[in-house]
Amino acid sequence: MLIRTQNNGHQHLVASEITPPQDYLRRREWLQQLALGAGGVALAGWAARDARAQMARPPGKLAPLPGAKSAVSGASTMEAVSSYEDASTYNNYYEFGTDKSDPAAAAKSLKPRPWTVSVEGLVKAPKTFGLDDLLRLSPMEERIYRLRCVEGWSMVIPWVGYSLAELIKRVEPLGSAKYVEFVTLADKAQMPGLRSGVLDWPYVEGLRLDEAMHPLTLLAFGMYGEVLPNQNGAPLRLVVPWKYGFKSGKSLVKIRFTDKEPRTAWNVAAAQEYGFYSNVNPDVAHPRWSQATERRIGEGQGLFAKRRKTLMFNGYEPQVGQLYAGMDLRKYF
Ligand code: MTE
Repeated sequence: MLIRTQNNGHQHLVASEITPPQDYLRRREWLQQLALGAGGVALAGWAARDARAQMARPPGKLAPLPGAKSAVSGASTMEAVSSYEDASTYNNYYEFGTDKSDPAAAAKSLKPRPWTVSVEGLVKAPKTFGLDDLLRLSPMEERIYRLRCVEGWSMVIPWVGYSLAELIKRVEPLGSAKYVEFVTLADKAQMPGLRSGVLDWPYVEGLRLDEAMHPLTLLAFGMYGEVLPNQNGAPLRLVVPWKYGFKSGKSLVKIRFTDKEPRTAWNVAAAQEYGFYSNVNPDVAHPRWSQATERRIGEGQGLFAKRRKTLMFNGYEPQVGQLYAGMDLRKYF
C-alpha cells in the first residue's frame, strides 16, 4: 500500500492470469465443438461453468468449516467467486512480508492454536474467549462478499463466520462505548515481517460501534468451506465488506471498546492517504491514484485487463448508506 515499487506494487501476475497449456488445448477443443453447432455450444457452456467451480474449490488440506446460507441481506453476490488459488496466494499480510506472494510462503510459521481473544474496555462483561468458545458462540454462515483493496483490485470470496454483533452482545458494551479497536497478533517468533519498520506494530484497526454492530460486519473463521489458511488471517479475522480491505484485520487477539476514535496502523503511517472511515468510494480518489475502477483478480492483467466500475460502498450502499447520512465523505474519508 505505502510501498512503491517499479510496477506500483499491485500488478503482480497471479496463477489464474497465466493460461496453462492444458487450458489452451481445452479452448481449442471447445472451438471444434462450436463448429459442430448449437449442441456443441451448450456443451462448451457447461464445461466452462464446471471449470470455474473446480477452480474455486480448495485443495482440501485444511479442516472443513461449512456454513449455512446466510439470511443477512446483501450477504451474497451473483458474481463469479474468485479461485481459491488466487484468494490464498495473492495476499496482503505485512507481518509476513510486503509482496503479494510473501504471506502464502511465510505464514506457515503462524500457530493458530491454541488461541485466545481478549474482549475488554468499556463493557459490562469483559472476557477472554478461547478459540473453541468462539467457534461455538453462534451458528456459522457462508457469505459471499466482494473484497475491494485500496490498491485497486478486488476479489469475490465465500467467507464462513457470523456477525461480529453476536460477540459484542455477549460482553454488553457500556453507554460510553463509541468505538471498537481491533488488535492483531504481533509475535516476532512467528512473523518475520515484524523486523521491518513498514508499520508501527501491532497492526491495529478500528470501527465506530454502530459499524461494528452492523449485521454485514463478519467475524470470519473460514473461507471456501474450510478454516482460514494462515495467510488469510487464521484463526479469525474481521471482514467489513463496504470498506477497503485494510480495515479487515487478520489474526485478531484483542477487541477493545473505547470512547475515542482508535489510532489505526495505516492512519498512523500516512494520515493523508488512509482515513479512519475508509469506506469504498469511487468519487474520492486516493492522493496517488483514482478509486473509480478496479481490476478483478483472475480477469486478465496489463494492457488487456478488464476494469470494472467501483461501486459506492463496494455495492453495499442499500445496507450501510444510512450509517453515514449527512456526513461529508470527502472530509471523513
Ligand atoms: N491484517 C493484518 N494483521 N496485517 C495486514 O497486513 N492487510 C490488510 C487486511 N488485513 C493486513 C491485514 C489488507 S491491506 C487487505 S487488502 C486485506 O487484509 C487482504 O486480505 P486477504 O489477503 O485475505 O485478501
